[in-house]
Amino acid sequence: MRNDAVSVISRKLGISKGQFHQNYEAIGRSIIIREEEEFSNDEGSFSRLMLSSFKLWAVYRYTGIRGNRRVPSIKLVSGIHTEVVQREDGILYMMDPQKVMFSKGNKKERHILTEEADKEETVLDMFAGIGYFSIPMSFKVKRVYSCEINPDSFHYLIMNKKLNGARALVPIFGDSSRLEMRDFANRIIMGHFESDRYLQRALTYLKKRGKIHLHRLSKRDEYRDILEEYESYPFVSKVKIRKVKSYSPSHDHIVLDLDVIKN
Ligand SMILES: C[S@@+](CC[C@H](N)C(=O)[O-])C[C@H]1O[C@@H](n2cnc3c(N)ncnc32)[C@H](O)[C@@H]1O
Repeated sequence: MRNDAVSVISRKLGISKGQFHQNYEAIGRSIIIREEEEFSNDEGSFSRLMLSSFKLWAVYRYTGIRGNRRVPSIKLVSGIHTEVVQREDGILYMMDPQKVMFSKGNKKERHILTEEADKEETVLDMFAGIGYFSIPMSFKVKRVYSCEINPDSFHYLIMNKKLNGARALVPIFGDSSRLEMRDFANRIIMGHFESDRYLQRALTYLKKRGKIHLHRLSKRDEYRDILEEYESYPFVSKVKIRKVKSYSPSHDHIVLDLDVIKN
């Protein structure tokens, strides 16, 4: 995003550039307003100013995310609704911002995971979305099975596989708790806040030894309790806990790296 345009808009709003980036998210050539309150003045004319300052296609207002399939509630404020393409580290992610979510705040986590993986590994991404973890991972490892239940997200998973030539990525449409394969994965990514419910099932997919990256929410003062809970599981030999990003005033999005040895 152009830095000079950010300066102009944040000055007009009377906020710092840091606050701007907290409240507004640019995805491809669209911008999503994440502020909770609607502007008291004319939101339409303000959005048109944003459109011309940033040379954007659309301005949306985000009002929340619905259900297990993480469908965003987003309405178009100005401009033309289209698919967008976001580029990150040379990878292109195409999506429809009104149909699927994109977690920009997970960028660092994508790096950590991809760095850690080995070229001989078979990876299972149980909640693949449009491929945020699966696509970068697929350039590093032997195979990534990417499971997604939401048809809209699955459509963009396929598009993004093609767009990036991610040949090692195998898309699977459906419920990742119902796969018939067993004991095949060296590493499992569980990028969903309800991941914990699927942990027993994930174990059946893992080889005798393997790694699970389990995402969940945690209150700020609960890290230690959560760490101890997972350390107590008989199949866990080592646990690391890491903050991915702040989620709300009281909660963080965290990830647990579990080293697993099955009986
Ligand atoms: C929070 S998104 C995470 C996407 C991505 N891993 C990320 O970190 O940005 C969770 C995704 O899991 C999908 N999902 C939910 N339950 C599922 C299930 N049982 N099997 C497969 N996918 C599922 C949702 O449709 C959604 O796209």
